[in-house]
Order: sequence, then structure tokens, then C-alpha cells
Amino acid sequence: MQDSTPGRPPAAGGAAFARPATAADASRIAAIYNEGIEDRLATFETRLRSAAEVGAWLDGIHPVVVVEADGEVAAFAASSTYRPRECYAGVAEFSVYVARGVRGRGLGQVAMEGLIGAAEAAGFWKLVSRVFVENAPSRRLLTGLGFREIGVYRRHARLDGRWRDVVIVERLLGPATDDQPTDDQPTDDEAAASPSVAP
Ligand SMILES: CC(C)(COP(=O)(O)OP(=O)(O)OC[C@H]1O[C@@H](n2cnc3c(N)ncnc32)[C@H](O)[C@@H]1OP(=O)(O)O)[C@@H](O)C(=O)NCCC(=O)NCCS
Repeated sequence: MQDSTPGRPPAAGGAAFARPATAADASRIAAIYNEGIEDRLATFETRLRSAAEVGAWLDGIHPVVVVEADGEVAAFAASSTYRPRECYAGVAEFSVYVARGVRGRGLGQVAMEGLIGAAEAAGFWKLVSRVFVENAPSRRLLTGLGFREIGVYRRHARLDGRWRDVVIVERLLGPATDDQPTDDQPTDDEAAASPSVAP
């Protein structure tokens, strides 16, 4: 997996690298996630998570990576089920969190590059998520890594009683990046034949 981007100050004077998370990382991942929950910048979640709950993310199907910087886990990126329908088995949700004290030093990028590589290797064809419209660091990180901003879900949920809008993001992986025709602009015949249930 990838080292941090040259030109940026590293987390604490050393190289940062991503690796697959193990059960032994669960409590550190929970601590980093809980900082993100407490900061109210990134997620609708307000309930802090335990190491046991984080351990359940390691399902052997959806990659989770951690970033080590100066001998300590300083960030993670995690994927999870997008929808239970079989047709969407290759689509994963993701999230990325950097420990509060070391944000803005390139570790989010290392984490996401690690997750993208791991998800591609595991056969996933798309990563999706939603980002608070105000979350400039996250939007910049993701668009810089090739994520496309699809649009805005308005008033998607309330955080501490206040409605929040979120930007939907996606990035194609592996086979989905092949240069082949898409159904972006369906023909009249295709439109007429479109199924009555949601795709
Ligand atoms: C969002 C987050 C994961 C980004 O990781 P990071 O290590 O802080 O960001 P990086 O240093 O890798 O920088 C990524 C990009 O964001 C930019 N950026 C970083 N901090 C920024 C800030 N405060 N404002 C604007 N842009 C910022 C960087 O310049 C970089 O863009 P560039 O490559 O074009 O220069 C991290 O800040 C974080 O954990 N935030 C709290 C949790 C969160 O918001 N998670 C995302 C949920 S969707």
C-alpha cells in the first residue's frame, strides 16, 4: 500500500503506510471514530462505539485499512455493505477518519488510497458514501482521489436536531472503469422497457 504524498509534512516525522486492519486494531479504530463522532463534522452518528462493535466491521468481505504513522495507528478507512441485494455485492459504502491531532497531514489520503486498492483487489467495482456539504477537507480529499460528486441529498437526517445536507460521492473501481458503453442515455426502447421497481 502507498506511502504518504511527497511534499506534505508526514504525521510525526516518519513515513506513513496503510495496511489491512486486524482485530488488534479495533480499540484504536474505535477511539479515532469516536473522536470523529464527538467533533460533529463527519457523521450523523452520536453514539460512541466500542472496540467490540468495531471488531464486527472486520467481516472478511469488506476491507478495512489502518494507517500507521510513527508506530501508531493514526487513521482508518473502512468499507461496509451498501445494500443487501445480491446485484449490489460489488458496491461498498466507505468512511475515513484521521485522529484529531494529525488531520491535514496527508493521512486521509494514505488511508483512502489503501482502501481503494484493497477494495479493487477484493473485486468491488464501486465505493460510495455521503459527505456533509460543509466538510471541505473530506470533499477535497475525495474529489482529489477521483470520486465524483453526484448531487446533494437535502435534509437527509438531523444531527443534534438540525437538518443537514449531504453530498453523494462515488468512485468506480476495477472492471467498472473499463471503457464500454453505459446506459447514461437510454434509447427510447430501453426507456420503455425499464423495470417498474427501483434499479
Ligand atoms: C476528512 C479527513 C479524513 C481528511 O483527512 P486528512 O488527513 O485530514 O486530509 P489530507 O491531509 O489527506 O488532505 C486531503 C485534502 O484535503 C485538504 N484539506 C485538508 N484539511 C483541510 C481543511 N481544513 N480545509 C480544506 N481542505 C483541507 C488537503 O489540502 C488535501 O487536498 P489537496 O490534496 O488538494 O491538497 C480528516 O480531516 C478527518 O478525519 N476529518 C474528520 C472525520 C471526517 O470528516 N471524515 C470524513 C467522513 S465522510
